[in-house]
Amino acid sequence: MTFTASTARPNAPIGIFDSGVGGLSVLRHIRAQLPQEDLMYFADSGYAPYGDKTEQQVVDRSLAITAFLLQQGAKALVVACNTATIAAIKALRARYPDLPIVGVEPGLKPAASISRNGKIAVLATERALRGDKLLALREQVSAATGATFILQPCIGLADRIEQCELGNDPTDATSAMLERYIAPMLAQGVDTLVLGCTHYPFVQDAIVRTVRAHTQETITLVDTGDAVARQLARLLDAASLRRIDNDAPRLQGYTTAKVEALAKAFSGLLDLQPPVTHLSV
Ligand code: DGL
Repeated sequence: MTFTASTARPNAPIGIFDSGVGGLSVLRHIRAQLPQEDLMYFADSGYAPYGDKTEQQVVDRSLAITAFLLQQGAKALVVACNTATIAAIKALRARYPDLPIVGVEPGLKPAASISRNGKIAVLATERALRGDKLLALREQVSAATGATFILQPCIGLADRIEQCELGNDPTDATSAMLERYIAPMLAQGVDTLVLGCTHYPFVQDAIVRTVRAHTQETITLVDTGDAVARQLARLLDAASLRRIDNDAPRLQGYTTAKVEALAKAFSGLLDLQPPVTHLSV
C-alpha cells in the first residue's frame, strides 16, 4: 500500500496503534484536542508485549499494522507506543515519506526542564530503554542540561495493565510491582518520574500512592500524550488535513487478540463503547 500527499483526504480517519491498550492514553488526548476527527485504534494485543520482542519483530509488526491502517484510508499515523517509536519510526518514515507520522518518546527533555535537582527516573519497557534512539536522546539531554537519567525497565507492568490490573488495591500484584520499581528510584533521590510507556498513565494513581508511601517531597510525573496530540494537530494543519465534515466523528477499534478485551479496555479506561473488530494482520 502506498501513500501520497495528493491522495490524502481531510475527511479520512487518523490511524493510531500500540502493542495493546496503552495507546488509549494517547487517544484520550487526541480526542480532547481534535474532537472532530474520525479515529481508528489498532491494539496489537495478540503480539503484546513489544517490550520483550527483538527490534526486528517490532519493526515488522509496525510496518504490517501501518499497511493495514493505510488500506482503511488513514490520512495520518500516530505510533502511540514508545517501544515501537524507538524501534520502527525510522523504517515507517522511510517507507511512507509523505504520510504525516507522529511518534511517542519518553519525555526526557520536559523532565529535564521540570526537575529541580536534575535526578530523573525513566520508567519504560526493556526494549525501549535499550534502543539507540533513546540512548542518544539521553546523552543529548544530559549534555545540554546536566541532568542524570536513571533508566528503570518495568518488566511485566504493561502486561498487567493489559489485563486491566491497575493497582487499585495497595496489596495487589501491580502495586507490589510498582513498589519494586519505584522505591529504589526514590531512594536515589529522583524528583521526577518519566512515564516512558503509554500503558503507564493508567496506573498513575497507584504510582502517586506508591510515591506518597515513601516521601512527602514533590515528585513530578511526566507523560507526553498531550504533546503528541498537539504535534498531530500541527501536522494536520500543515497538510490542510483537518476534517471538514460536521457529522459526529467515528471511532473504530481493531485488535489482534480478543474483541472483548479491547472493548473492556475502551469502556473501563475511557468510558467509550466503539465497535471493535478482530483481525489477523
Ligand atoms: N505501550 C508500549 C510503550 O509505550 C509498550 C508496552 C509493551 O508492549 O511492552 O512502550
